[in-house]
Amino acid sequence: MNQDELKKAVAQAALDYITPKLERDSVIGVGTGSTTNFFIDLLPSIRDQFSGTVASSEETARRLEKLGIPVLELNDVNELVVYIDGADESNPQLELIKGGGAALTREKVVAAVAREFVCIADERKWVDILGKFPLPVEVIPMARSYVARQLVQLGGQPVYREGVTTDNGNVILDVYNLSIMEARKLETEINQIAGVVTNGLFAQRPADVLLLSSNEGVRQIRPRYS
Ligand code: 5RP
Repeated sequence: MNQDELKKAVAQAALDYITPKLERDSVIGVGTGSTTNFFIDLLPSIRDQFSGTVASSEETARRLEKLGIPVLELNDVNELVVYIDGADESNPQLELIKGGGAALTREKVVAAVAREFVCIADERKWVDILGKFPLPVEVIPMARSYVARQLVQLGGQPVYREGVTTDNGNVILDVYNLSIMEARKLETEINQIAGVVTNGLFAQRPADVLLLSSNEGVRQIRPRYS
């Protein structure tokens, strides 16, 4: 299977996974990225089984609306029954690196609200140790240089993602050369740097289940606790 076929297979598996959990008043959190886009494209087929969605980015909101799927403000919603989103890397604890699409902050907020976070990915994203994929950090623009210097102190090599402004009006630093052994600790440390909005480590709130596609099919993986 090519990459798109793997993404389509895992998107279909996600739809099958969540459908029995839905009630007519359920609200679904919807992430951002090419894998999630395949999931979004399947949502019209179960349109009568949930009430609406909360989107983790403007791009996702536009795609949902184009398909006639209601998009609600997170502030108007008490509970998200489930959140579906992709990842750039996952380790066996289902700690993730996210933010390749620059939507990390809203993704983290939506994941925090959701009762269950279902991550969808293909096997290229599966790693033993996080950090080969550069860790995105969302930073308010005036703090960019200061935060970059602090990230160097932590052992990383930050690179400014040129030409990208997040949905929140901020910039992204991609941090290379991190070998992330203690993801929860590093997530907290980076978030404490003044000027950081958030970073793309999803370790304090990892995924609850990972649906991982390969040529052999889609595996359902639960976190391995270390
Ligand atoms: C966007 C994300 C995406 O979920 C992540 O980059 C994976 O994207 P794709 O499914 O296109 O590989 O975190 O901010």
